[in-house]
Amino acid sequence: MLLYNFNRDEKDMIMLKIISTTPYTDQKMGTGGIRKKSKTAAQPNYVENFIQSLFDAIGGVKGQTFVLGGDGRYYNNIAIQKIIKIAAANDMKKLIVGQNGYISTPASSNVLLKNHADGGLVLSASHNPGGENGDFGIKYATKTGGQCSSQISDAIYARTKEIKEYKIFDTPDIDLSKIGVQKLGEMEIEVIDPVKDYVAMMEKIFDFAAIKKLFQNGFTMVFDAMNAVTGPYALKIFEEVLGAPKGSVLNYTPKPDFGGLHPDPNLIYAKPLVDLMYSDHAPDLGAANDGDGDRNMILGRKFFVTPSDSLAILTDNYKYIPAYKNGIYGVAKSAATSTAVSRVAKALNIGYYEVPTGWKYFCNLMDSKRVTFCGEESFGTGSSHIREKDGIWAVLFWLNIIAATGKSVQEITEEFWHKYGRSYYLRFDFEGIDTTVADKLMADVESKLSHLVGKTFAGYEVSKAYPFIYNDPVDGSSTKNGLIVCFKDGSRIVYRLSGTGTSGATLRVYLEVYEQKRLDEQPLAMLENLTKAAMEIAEIQERTGKTKADIIT
Ligand code: G1P
Ligand code: ZN
Repeated sequence: MLLYNFNRDEKDMIMLKIISTTPYTDQKMGTGGIRKKSKTAAQPNYVENFIQSLFDAIGGVKGQTFVLGGDGRYYNNIAIQKIIKIAAANDMKKLIVGQNGYISTPASSNVLLKNHADGGLVLSASHNPGGENGDFGIKYATKTGGQCSSQISDAIYARTKEIKEYKIFDTPDIDLSKIGVQKLGEMEIEVIDPVKDYVAMMEKIFDFAAIKKLFQNGFTMVFDAMNAVTGPYALKIFEEVLGAPKGSVLNYTPKPDFGGLHPDPNLIYAKPLVDLMYSDHAPDLGAANDGDGDRNMILGRKFFVTPSDSLAILTDNYKYIPAYKNGIYGVAKSAATSTAVSRVAKALNIGYYEVPTGWKYFCNLMDSKRVTFCGEESFGTGSSHIREKDGIWAVLFWLNIIAATGKSVQEITEEFWHKYGRSYYLRFDFEGIDTTVADKLMADVESKLSHLVGKTFAGYEVSKAYPFIYNDPVDGSSTKNGLIVCFKDGSRIVYRLSGTGTSGATLRVYLEVYEQKRLDEQPLAMLENLTKAAMEIAEIQERTGKTKADIIT
């Protein structure tokens, strides 16, 4: 239905249309947004429905300012044009858009906070593969710079099931290649270079002069941007500003299908980088980020740092970083993350929190100045400089520690183990399980938790077993996430179902063995018996038919 047109020349007439649409029942939001198969998201009216539902659920966007961009994956360019036209039709005042439609998740949080914007949209399915047969997603951040609460996402989902129409301008696509301001109807569109703001923020946090000197003295690194959004940020920061040798940044052009890569920075999907780091021509440091730039992986020469250890090591070395040298409030980790950082928090006598999986649970703790650093086992580390995890921030933190101490990645990590002991830790993912089977498995383990205490599995005696329940000290909300089984010797198993998958269910089993003396063993071997215990307790083979995990990280 044509509503009205502006008094303009015929050739660039803008028409506000109200288009009737059928509701969608599969737009339930996961962690911070929707994540779907690209083909689902590319259905007619799918993105339109979601965006209008979001705008409706938050009480409209009239007069508001939003930040918009994506990680460059397939459908980024189409969805972004739809969103711009829907925003203008809903009387948004201003949209700040990343040049060419690109913005990383951490950069978006920065731009949002810096401009006191009302919300942000990042078009990304994070570390999931892209392309026509991959995944697409939309992440929504509130004016806090972080992901919205479950109540808001529930309200958005409820709206997607009842929505009957959406508003959109019928107008040619907007040119997002040029920096500057343009208008669509009454809405201002400001195309910005998000890299510039991001570099300025990093310069304020870290000792760039010391890192520059490190490179001048011959230090070498490789950063794998995995054909995703961080390429331009990494080129600018590591090569141009800090003087890392040309060629230090690999796969730096964002591609719609990430060049066929699965942009998840771990030992499996970042294999070319891992192979290089374990070869005889390995540089001093290796790092990778995921699709939207919030995850990171750190490697030294023939050496891998687990994300759980990385969080603990960064926390232990906070004083080398100019922005934190006067002290940090505290640290938080997801329950599934290893307990390594808990020992650092104790030694430093700072606040320590365990939260459910998902970055949004850290935000209240950061807002209320309870914590400065946060981390998850899934290659996510960050601080209160923004409200998302930040991949390049973590790499710069490591570079800054190396520059300040003159020690290698391996030396820093091994010294840490000598000081605090070592948490041998791995995550086992059982993928593509029938959701009914997975739900039943979890329910059955939960119901027998109290009966496990005192029993022994593969040599491990259970000391405590409980569902993890988090009571947020700020808003009083309570969240249940995962089941924890603790053993007499300090080892742990955490079971939980993934909340980010796009097909079937993924059972994640997190295993940890704490050692104070044997610091030089292979994690897989160290966790062999605990793996058996985990399989037995949850009857994984009997219920799923799987004798081993599909992915171990
Ligand atoms: C996964 C990770 C979790 C992270 C989330 C978003 O969620 O495990 O730590 O916050 O992706 O990047 P999951 O699939 O386990 O629910
Ligand atoms: Zn991500």
